[in-house]
Amino acid sequence: MSGPNTSFDPKQVASLDAAAIDEMVAAAQADIAGAADLAQLKEARLAHAGDRSPLALANREIGALPPAAKAEAGKRVGQARNVVKSALEERQAALEIERDERALVEETVDVTVPTDRNPLGARHPLTTLMERVADVFVSMGYDIVEGPEVEAEWVNFDALNVPPDHPARTMQDTFFVESADSGVVLRTQTSPMQIRALLERDLPVYVIAPGRVFRTDELDATHTPVFHQIEGLAVDKGITMADLRGTLDHFAAAMFGDGIHTRMRPSYFPFTEPSAEVDLECFVCRGESVGNPERPCRTCGSEGWIEWGGCGMVNPRVLSAVGIDPNIYRGFAFGMGVERTLMFRNGVSDMRDMVEGDVRFSLAFGLEG
Ligand code: DAH
Repeated sequence: MSGPNTSFDPKQVASLDAAAIDEMVAAAQADIAGAADLAQLKEARLAHAGDRSPLALANREIGALPPAAKAEAGKRVGQARNVVKSALEERQAALEIERDERALVEETVDVTVPTDRNPLGARHPLTTLMERVADVFVSMGYDIVEGPEVEAEWVNFDALNVPPDHPARTMQDTFFVESADSGVVLRTQTSPMQIRALLERDLPVYVIAPGRVFRTDELDATHTPVFHQIEGLAVDKGITMADLRGTLDHFAAAMFGDGIHTRMRPSYFPFTEPSAEVDLECFVCRGESVGNPERPCRTCGSEGWIEWGGCGMVNPRVLSAVGIDPNIYRGFAFGMGVERTLMFRNGVSDMRDMVEGDVRFSLAFGLEG
């Protein structure tokens, strides 16, 4: 601070003249008005109202003025400081309101936003389809049985009358556990459940066995190395092929609707005699592509029918293998692919969609079951 100034020199206190003070006020007002937020306003306060601001420094100069000049200069500087002070207060209040309003908008909680950020999964349509099939058969008095996926080769093949040199028994088709002569395989079909059911249960036997089966196929649109089958077996006195036919028609109607047509086509399976393949009328062309080159059908190859599964009367050799007298008891059996059933039923054209595990695929089937 300057010492007492007895010889008053107006040049030394140029900062106190009216024009200089007005300039200080104008500069302060400009900065205050231009402060976009409270932090900038704080800087403006420091620059124009702080201890080292031009107006504060000017204020200190007053003391050095001769008494005659003090009053006027004091009034001018005092007024100027008040103007700056109230400009600061006004801007402070305005910026606080702005800040609060912004906070209200930015920190709003939208109570309508769904809070469940980890959506629940969906049951796989193969699972719900197998349960549906199970329901159909339970209502006809069947039991549901399940068995091991790692199966004795004897149960998977020999007891089912599949001879040791049958092509299905090569490593090209069957997954062997450990070595090809281990006697243990990943079951290639659900048919071994026929053997297990007949060994474990009292007659008559009416069972259905849904489950996973394994074959050494590459994954593509129509094959997968892991898939599902549903095996059916009825062994009782006096069972005929008409019972088989009636049962399959009921099954088909439950899966595909009452209007569905089925047919049995003679075929061969070692564990049934006679054997047949069960075809469904093509759900795309309804048989209209047959003999009609102008309207070929890719789904059934213009055959009019699509293969659904295999069936037949239980081969007496199978009954004998498990100690049942084929002269007293007879039975029928059938085995359907669950993936095929889902394809026909729901128009899924690519097997890979079923195995990839994308929840959107499952969700598309709704919350069935
Ligand atoms: N197990 C056979 C397969 O995987 C399907 C089959 C055919 C099952 C005839 C049966 C049957 O029960 O009687 O190709």
